[in-house]
Amino acid sequence: MTSGFVKVCALGDLEEDVPRRVELDDTPVCVVRTEGEVFAVNDICSHANVSLSEGEVEDCQVECWLHGSSFDLRTGKPSGLPATRPIPVYPVKIEGEGPGAAVLVSLSQES
Ligand code: FES
Repeated sequence: MTSGFVKVCALGDLEEDVPRRVELDDTPVCVVRTEGEVFAVNDICSHANVSLSEGEVEDCQVECWLHGSSFDLRTGKPSGLPATRPIPVYPVKIEGEGPGAAVLVSLSQES
């Protein structure tokens, strides 16, 4: 596993409320820009093997399209059934300014 932060994309690559899937060390990560912040969570729903980046973002949550559990992008906690377990949340750093700023994610400091 990579230690420290790794660039996953540029800030300008992220559309507001449109999740983007990236791979970091074979780990699928869902990166979301919303409400003026960027969040990174594990891309796989904790209920079944479904990509959360194919779901919709609302109120700082990403919704699993298959059965409708939403996960808080800040805590990874599901808001309701059928998912009961949280998904991993990863710290994000932004380096630089404007659309060219680098979005960095660290898998080693999972919270
Ligand atoms: S697979 Fe995500 S809620 Fe069922």
